[in-house]
Amino acid sequence: MRVAHVRQLSGIDSVELAERPDPTPGPGQALVGVEAAGVGPWDVGFVSGAASGLALPFVPGFEVAGVVQAVGDGLDVRPGDHVYTSLWPGGGGFAELALASADRMAPMPDRVSFPEAASLVIAGGTAYEGLVDRGRLRSGETVLITAAAGGVGSAAVQIAVAVGARPLAVASPNNHDYLRDLGALEVFDYHADDWPEQVRTAVPGGADVLLDGAGGQTGNQAVTAVRDGGRAVFIVLAGAPARLERGIVGESFAAQVNRQRLESLNRLVDAGALRAQVEAVLPLGEVRAALARVAGGHTRGKMVLEITK
Ligand SMILES: NC(=O)c1ccc[n+]([C@@H]2O[C@H](COP(=O)([O-])OP(=O)(O)OC[C@H]3O[C@@H](n4cnc5c(N)ncnc54)[C@H](OP(=O)(O)O)[C@@H]3O)[C@@H](O)[C@H]2O)c1
Repeated sequence: MRVAHVRQLSGIDSVELAERPDPTPGPGQALVGVEAAGVGPWDVGFVSGAASGLALPFVPGFEVAGVVQAVGDGLDVRPGDHVYTSLWPGGGGFAELALASADRMAPMPDRVSFPEAASLVIAGGTAYEGLVDRGRLRSGETVLITAAAGGVGSAAVQIAVAVGARPLAVASPNNHDYLRDLGALEVFDYHADDWPEQVRTAVPGGADVLLDGAGGQTGNQAVTAVRDGGRAVFIVLAGAPARLERGIVGESFAAQVNRQRLESLNRLVDAGALRAQVEAVLPLGEVRAALARVAGGHTRGKMVLEITK
């Protein structure tokens, strides 16, 4: 099979196209013919060595959509089924074939393309877990979402609307109309020093919930725009605050995009409440260009590789 792999950790230019033996599914696994793979900041982290945990050589790619080719024992999917799946933590998605675990795979939503489905796995799964399962976001509450125009943020704004909450989005000005179209009630530019005060003016007392996908200074500023006793959920694990003041309850988490969460995304997509946001689809041969665009830090929605092209 054709893959994009990494034999040495020296950044995006170390990602090479290569041929590797086809994998064979074991118990609880399906062999998926990968049609499309999402590209995320985590891929950039692994190929640069900033993220650890994968032994060389490795194939990046942690979210794919494709067609089941073969199944191991104990699976309820069949060859020919269209599925989408998280490949966390082993990766292997930038390849014509990938091994998917039954507990992290679900039938693809109807009426979406393979690139759209691949784009939803980690972005949608993380947004769902962060807002619904961990943030316990409720109808009528305000939720402040940083990095709102990115992969996770674009899904989070829509999921917040779907639960009846009121999303406040933080992004560069060129993304403000985009975010209003997704359902953001108010938009704020993090380049303005006083943007947290602007939030507190718009929502006296501050937001009920924060989903922070930006980290760093923006994440720290965002906490100041949360109301006393509010909740804060952090997905940028490096530097996430260990302790918060004013009774704010905070948590950071590594997303578990399991079958149940993918099925929850299916229901939102089927209901028309969640639309995949794909900035661009590039062929596997342009994997370095796709990673470079993600590394630039300003993709709108998701970057996706089409493997079969
Ligand atoms: N814990 C987990 O399990 C988990 C899961 C998924 C993602 N993550 C992490 O969460 C973060 C977001 O993920 P993602 O996939 O949504 O990333 P992404 O798509 O690459 O996010 C891009 C967005 O980040 C915004 N941004 C860039 N620099 C910023 C800054 N200084 N302040 C505020 N916003 C800034 C950009 O906004 P503008 O273009 O509008 O400026 C852009 O829209 C990443 O660090 C990722 O690694 C963690």
